[in-house]
Amino acid sequence: MNKDLEFPENFLWGAAQSAYQTEGHNYNNDWYKFEQIKGKIKNNDTCGAACDHYNRFDSDFELLSNLNQNAHRTGIEWSRIVPEENEVNHDEIEHYHKVFESLKKHNLTSFVTVHHFTIPLWFEKKGGFLKRKNLKHFEYYCDILAKNFPEVEYWNTINEPGVLPLMGYMSKDYPPGRSSFLAFLKVYNNILRAHGIAYHKIKEKNPKSQVGIVKNVPYFYQKFYGKFWKKRVVSFFDNVYNQIFFDLLNNGRVSLNPLIREKCLKGTSDFFGINYYDALYFKFKLGIPYGMDFMLPEDTRFTQMGWGIYPRGLYENIMRVKKEFNGPIYITENGIATLEDKERQSFILEHLLAVHRAIKEGADVRGFFYWSSMDNWEWAEGFEPRFGLIGIDYETQERQIRESAKMYGEIAKQNKISANLLEKFKLNA
Ligand code: FCB
Repeated sequence: MNKDLEFPENFLWGAAQSAYQTEGHNYNNDWYKFEQIKGKIKNNDTCGAACDHYNRFDSDFELLSNLNQNAHRTGIEWSRIVPEENEVNHDEIEHYHKVFESLKKHNLTSFVTVHHFTIPLWFEKKGGFLKRKNLKHFEYYCDILAKNFPEVEYWNTINEPGVLPLMGYMSKDYPPGRSSFLAFLKVYNNILRAHGIAYHKIKEKNPKSQVGIVKNVPYFYQKFYGKFWKKRVVSFFDNVYNQIFFDLLNNGRVSLNPLIREKCLKGTSDFFGINYYDALYFKFKLGIPYGMDFMLPEDTRFTQMGWGIYPRGLYENIMRVKKEFNGPIYITENGIATLEDKERQSFILEHLLAVHRAIKEGADVRGFFYWSSMDNWEWAEGFEPRFGLIGIDYETQERQIRESAKMYGEIAKQNKISANLLEKFKLNA
């Protein structure tokens, strides 16, 4: 028999989005430029007006607040605040003040991302994050944010620090569309430093605001690796992608190779933001890894993105972060792209069960942000994937509240998953 599953007092229930994916009318960054090249984006979509959230943020937040959400993760678009080198656009600063006022008015605790994949065109021209000396420009941007937005309660420094280096400098899927392992390493290293810069700048001006990293912690599915050699290879990649991260935050150096030190990173996360979507496994040929895939146990369901649904990976992730990181944890992204809203409802419930289990086993998880508040621009996949609790008709900009949004709202209101709901979806805690 199921029982109601209560969440801790003051738990934050929200949804996440980023600036570029929702705002619309951003024409001054690397993504805008990238999208104009034929063949880069699915169906040759361009972001254009996106969800027109730039103009509709107030009514959008009202919808979320009516759905009983009490927190919201959004972002700032760097190319709006600093449109040219060393030039600040004060109208845009005013704009984001209004955005944060609106969050407050709707009782939504603010989580704000400093950097979520996009960079201004002028910064790209200078070589972007590939050049270490360019970090001073990122520092300038962080300084403006820190000085101007003391009202922000939680800052997320860099969204998924491994993703831009990987997708932009290895797999060619994101701008600048390059493929070079050396470039990947350089950009990865500089982005990690950028995280440290953002942390220190914000804390210096606003010691009370909480500042943390947001990291996708891919769960490398182990079942396929009986052989000693394969296990070693997988754990090497896990070290590079995940473990060095924890090491740098904890000690400012990497246990795998103590010669790699970044002292400025030690202690630079007041909380840990986990983004989780799926589990992965490595493909091997003649014992050599050559790619990754999402195929999991035989009955795995797949999302519109082709990602395999594996809620247990979220539980494993949280428990790992609990072990490696001494501080509060927020699930800063977890969601599904699907045309079947029932599937979204199951996905949410199954993943919340995983979070609940981790909490029961002592993990200090303080909030959950479904990705995403509304359908939006899914980078190289264009507008096809539907991640939203709220559906968007891109022709008319009409908002449609999905059943999953209402279900999630009910959970948020009661701060628990009721036994009835679990029965309805035939789930067991
Ligand atoms: C994450 C990104 C987010 C969104 C989701 C689906 O990796 O942070 O912007 O694209 O994936």
